[in-house]
Amino acid sequence: MYNSYLLGALGGLGLITILFLAFSYLGQRPGPKHKPVTQDDIEADFILDTIEDGVVLVSADGIIHLFNPAAAKITGWPPDEAVKLNFKAVLPLVDEKGQPLPEASHPFMQALSTGKSAHDSNAMLVTKNSRKVPVSIIVSPVMGPAGQPNGSVVGVLRDIAKDKEEEAQRSDFISTASHEMRTPLAAIEGYLALALNPKTAQINDSARNYLEKASNSTKHLGELFRDLLTSSKAEDGRLISYPAVVEIGEIIEQVAEAAKFPAQAKGLQLKYSVSADTSTNSGKTVRPLYYAYADVNRIREVFQNLVDNAIKYTNEGEVLVRLAGDSSVIQIQIQDSGVGIPPEDIPHLFQKFYRVDNSSTRSIGGTGLGLFICKKITELYNGRIWVESEFGKGSTFFINLPRLNAEQALQIQRQQASTISPMDRPI
Ligand SMILES: Nc1ncnc2c1ncn2[C@@H]1O[C@H](COP(=O)(O)OP(=O)(O)O)[C@@H](O)[C@H]1O
Ligand SMILES: [Mg+2]
Repeated sequence: MYNSYLLGALGGLGLITILFLAFSYLGQRPGPKHKPVTQDDIEADFILDTIEDGVVLVSADGIIHLFNPAAAKITGWPPDEAVKLNFKAVLPLVDEKGQPLPEASHPFMQALSTGKSAHDSNAMLVTKNSRKVPVSIIVSPVMGPAGQPNGSVVGVLRDIAKDKEEEAQRSDFISTASHEMRTPLAAIEGYLALALNPKTAQINDSARNYLEKASNSTKHLGELFRDLLTSSKAEDGRLISYPAVVEIGEIIEQVAEAAKFPAQAKGLQLKYSVSADTSTNSGKTVRPLYYAYADVNRIREVFQNLVDNAIKYTNEGEVLVRLAGDSSVIQIQIQDSGVGIPPEDIPHLFQKFYRVDNSSTRSIGGTGLGLFICKKITELYNGRIWVESEFGKGSTFFINLPRLNAEQALQIQRQQASTISPMDRPI
């Protein structure tokens, strides 16, 4: 989504062209002209005045030197007022909750301080009359004649309110459609199960063969609808989450236990281990308790997805599920001896619908939504997910989650118990 906004923002007019235009424009105005106006200058002027993207040129001291009409339309600041002001006054950004963005996260600030390009398409711009507009901003350093950054930066901004609205409508459509389709699908699954059950129907072997295939595909379709629904909810923050204190060891053990059967069916060994807790040094061999604050169903979904993938993308060898941690972090590792992931695919792996396309994965079915959902859920609980892999040898997926100590866990549990009204409590 974010990439499409970025690409959209640059659509039609390359950033290089804009840099060039901004540069010639700066040489031309404000202030007296030092050189005769050339055909190039006139064209630069014309393009900057007519393009729909806002173009803002800011010098090293943060002062705006160029503000084209589109920037004025987006921000509500007339160019002659904006020029000579600091960009912080003209382009204040807030996050989705309306909180001002930390100064260091402002893309203009980032580009000015690092000399490198910076972008943002999640923030909202506060206009001159205090309206909040979702914008995509790309800021790049301006290069001097020797190819070195000359200290100034140029930013391209685009109002993406319409794109965001369309994205929300699309996501709404997907979630309604997948929700609606699950009901007839459940009926088909139910009738197929009846047809396949010898107690309820007599069928011959070839019919059984066909119906089993139909039943497998129906299951697949059900998983696709479920993943589509979850991913569209994850995108617009509607994911159902009732976080509470959970013990990760217990959840991961259940997932590993349930995965033993499908692993064995493929001839794989599935092992589960909890490594010694480095934060407690009691000398006892009791299993450490790893408390986290998360919705048990959501977090189980993450582990399940990763263990399913490990089994799915491994033809021989083993799958190891490990749990470890220190005083502040819980780490879950899911390691396999499977097909591995080529290095060029790794940066894209957690994107929606991304699947590795090579001879070792092509025949394996899937939606490419599992890892996207895993990432969204992990981030919902302030965790981190990543992968290390060697193509052809195997992969290890890691999840870090913030760990609660026993005292914090108890405190949160008490607080939650006291917020449940007496009417809701079981008698
Ligand atoms: N354990 C793994 N080993 C190798 N490749 C993997 C593994 N897990 C995920 N992948 C790759 O990442 C892609 C995305 O995974 P995922 O989002 O779960 O989608 P799906 O499993 O439906 O294809 C997969 O298509 C596969 O190419
Ligand atoms: Mg998967």
